[in-house]
Amino acid sequence: PLPVLLAPSILASDFTRLGQEIESIQDAEYLHVDVMDGLFVPNISFGFPILEAARRTRDTLGTGQILDVHLMIERPERYLKDFASAGADSITVHVEATPHVHRCVQTIRELGRRAGVVLNPGTSLETLRPLIGSVDLILIMSVNPGFGGQSFLPQTYERVQTVRRWLDEAGSDAVLEVDGGVTADNARQLAEAGATALVAGSSVFGADGGRAGLARLRASLS
Ligand code: DX5
Ligand code: ZN
Repeated sequence: PLPVLLAPSILASDFTRLGQEIESIQDAEYLHVDVMDGLFVPNISFGFPILEAARRTRDTLGTGQILDVHLMIERPERYLKDFASAGADSITVHVEATPHVHRCVQTIRELGRRAGVVLNPGTSLETLRPLIGSVDLILIMSVNPGFGGQSFLPQTYERVQTVRRWLDEAGSDAVLEVDGGVTADNARQLAEAGATALVAGSSVFGADGGRAGLARLRASLS
């Protein structure tokens, strides 16, 4: 099997039963938490109370699952400390959302959390180069962020290959994650392109429940 970390996105889960939804995917290495502010992206999702609830569930289950927080908010530097306090283990900021992405990375690390940076599909990969040596995670968006359930953009494969090459050249073991429209039909090709973590919302929680969805994704990689 290809060594890929799976990151179900709770955005696609049923919030009336969030605890059970998280339990259904407790075998996943990561739990992806999508925070949207209605400004950086044209949608508002949820914030601290849901992250805190996810952390309580994770702690009760005792899985050690990593809470992978994807901030789709303008000027994320305003809230990094609060997300760390609310339970984020890993915090990922958009390079498009702040003129001080490097400072954000430094702050996240000072808070003792894993630091990630993320690029929209239309953003030049070159913006990553100065950051490669300082980040724990790079997230490549394979849809324009804001909504779950969108179609995967195929140009993502080449972008992942390029970043994979840069990480290898730099001797970096940063996680290379892909987010948006990931399904059992494209997961293997993404892993072969060099992705080491895959976010999946609707393809995990959408059809027949998280447990089956996660198993299907895992099986596609074996
Ligand atoms: C999109 C979010 C994604 C989303 C993925 O803005 O960042 O994490 O939840 O959902 P699917 O897998 O349904 O595209
Ligand atoms: Zn996301």
